[in-house]
Amino acid sequence: MVRIENLVKNYGEVKAVRSINFTANKGEILGFLGSNGAGKSTTLKMVSGYLAPTAGNVYINDLNILDNSLEIRQQIGYLPELNPLWGEMVVYDVLQFTARIYDIVGRKFEKALDRVIDQCGLNGILHKKISACSKGYKQRVGLAMAIIHDPKILILDEPVNGLDPNQIVEIRELIRNLGRDKTIIISSHILQEIQATADRIVVINQGQIVADGTNEELMASIKGNTLLTLETKNSTMESIESLSTQLSNISIKDVSDNGDNHIIQIEYAAELDPREDIFKYAIQSKWSILEMSVYKTNLEDVFRSLTGKEAVGA
Ligand SMILES: Nc1ncnc2c1ncn2[C@@H]1O[C@H](COP(=O)(O)OP(=O)(O)OP(=O)(O)O)[C@@H](O)[C@H]1O
Ligand SMILES: [Mg+2]
Repeated sequence: MVRIENLVKNYGEVKAVRSINFTANKGEILGFLGSNGAGKSTTLKMVSGYLAPTAGNVYINDLNILDNSLEIRQQIGYLPELNPLWGEMVVYDVLQFTARIYDIVGRKFEKALDRVIDQCGLNGILHKKISACSKGYKQRVGLAMAIIHDPKILILDEPVNGLDPNQIVEIRELIRNLGRDKTIIISSHILQEIQATADRIVVINQGQIVADGTNEELMASIKGNTLLTLETKNSTMESIESLSTQLSNISIKDVSDNGDNHIIQIEYAAELDPREDIFKYAIQSKWSILEMSVYKTNLEDVFRSLTGKEAVGA
């Protein structure tokens, strides 16, 4: 379990992380979502013990990372942003070098190597130079380095950034498999990425946590409005205007002409469903309905609203 308490990081005048709290539970893939510059990498560097906090604490299974740094590093695997690798080195040598840092040598190394070859799909590239590997394979090597000591906790900073769609699917799959017996914190600035891999989402914005919950919980946390688009024929502006006086719980946001037809944008609270009443009104007013479509708030809108950009229909 990873517990972050009142964590702060200032770079001089820049307040990168402003007293944040969250917990990643055992066996959970926690998605850490935020726009560029939100403070994701700074937080993850502190969680993996590579950067000292200005204030606050990180606990790994109730041990404070600052007081137990060496012991805790054995339990953490960290894949930094942009995955810096030594291009001139051969994959096998890089893994051997990394393993040696954790005192994994000889037979123990051969066993660990077999495990990461299997977990990260490194067959066929073990004797290649890093610079000769594709981006997707470089990322697999980065992951193998992060898990060579079989850590319980894995911190991945934007692991699929810059990969093509096929490689993204492969790396996601790999992370999900690793997530079965580890606690994983994975960061991204792309909502769909986090939605695809994470069990729970923590959203950071300008150094502060603005949401923490499952997909469904985040959706419920903002009450968006529903936007209904109605395309009608034989309707008059007068009859359209009196629709909103007849149905007091809706508001007409926009009406445009499309030849003989009208396109009417109607907004109402998410918990309501006035479609039947609108339909009855249309029949009574002798309109023909050509199309009725509903736009509900989605998680993209939630993210936009949490990070200060207005949500559609809100
Ligand atoms: N070494 C540094 N010195 C000064 N300011 C820094 C340093 N590293 C980061 N910052 C600033 O701290 C803030 C948070 O940066 P951070 O890299 O943690 O964000 P991020 O969420 O990882 O962004 P990105 O999505 O671009 O990777 C930004 O304003 C950034 O400019
Ligand atoms: Mg970053």
